Amino acid sequence: MKLSINKRKLFQWTLQLGMVLLSSSLYAQDPIKIGFLVKQAEEPWFQDEWRYAEQAAREKGFSLIKIGVPNGEKLMAAIDNLGAQKAQGFIVCAPDVKLGTAIERAAKRNKLRVFSVDDQLQNGSGQPIETIPHMGISAYKIGQQVGEELAAEIKKRGWNMADIGAMRIAFDQLPTARERTMGAVDALKAAGFPVKNVIDAPSVKSDTESAYNAANIVLTKQSSFKRWIIFGMNDEAVLGAVRAAEGRKLAQDAVIAIGIGGSKSTLNEFAKPKQTAFYGSILISPKRHGYETSLLMYEWITANRLPPALTLTNGALLTRTNQAAVREKFGL
Ligand code: GLA
Repeated sequence: MKLSINKRKLFQWTLQLGMVLLSSSLYAQDPIKIGFLVKQAEEPWFQDEWRYAEQAAREKGFSLIKIGVPNGEKLMAAIDNLGAQKAQGFIVCAPDVKLGTAIERAAKRNKLRVFSVDDQLQNGSGQPIETIPHMGISAYKIGQQVGEELAAEIKKRGWNMADIGAMRIAFDQLPTARERTMGAVDALKAAGFPVKNVIDAPSVKSDTESAYNAANIVLTKQSSFKRWIIFGMNDEAVLGAVRAAEGRKLAQDAVIAIGIGGSKSTLNEFAKPKQTAFYGSILISPKRHGYETSLLMYEWITANRLPPALTLTNGALLTRTNQAAVREKFGL
């Protein structure tokens, strides 16, 4: 049969339409792949985040691509790798928040949605990048909780504040770390703690070993203090200082240390038969930071629903005695 021009055109259009529909339905069936990039994969907090992200992946049936990104080079390679794998987005806790603009650019180049977790990314002028959705802890408030709990424990033990050194394990290049520890300082001040007894122990990196070294320097220089309180950005930092104090025979009866995190690092410490100077930790939620961020990213991809611009999560004091109940309250 010979088709007239119009009929032939109609036939071609139908064919083209069919192909478009076919390719868009194929596109819709593209497997959902979400990256979860963390700066310190060896740290229990980040392993917990990954574990909860995996729970979301199982529930929603997407693939989770976990990549440790200890430096900028690995981070940029990971983003390009996600692009090559045709992932649709990623969640990131970067090794350096100043990489913010580069991350945003790499995400755009690879057609990836980006959502930051834990450490909010900054632009070239040091301002938070508000166009990247973020979930972090309410750093200053949680720091205040640390300070308040330290002051309460000092009181309970009947120690004289004037005789106590307060060690701030500082990692001030990371804004959330500075906010946390300054929150603790302010709460101590408000409780009547003498500011001149607050001694900074600047840590080169955010790990236990660096905190151990920083604390040792302070303990050597300030040997007149026989009692100490210790606080820092996370459990790993505080534990480094606790170990340094133990090395100088300053144990549970001379030191009160409170961390932030409450993950395996804390639980291992609490599982020791004898109580150490690590009195407690402000438990924060790896479930919200891992599971919830992943779900929000999934909805962004599948339903085009943008995650909230900023989510700040809360904490609660975890001690040897209340650990089971408090963790349960957090759904952990
Ligand atoms: C930072 C710290 C982690 C953890 C998270 C919580 O990334 O390095 O140890 O405390 O914040 O948001």
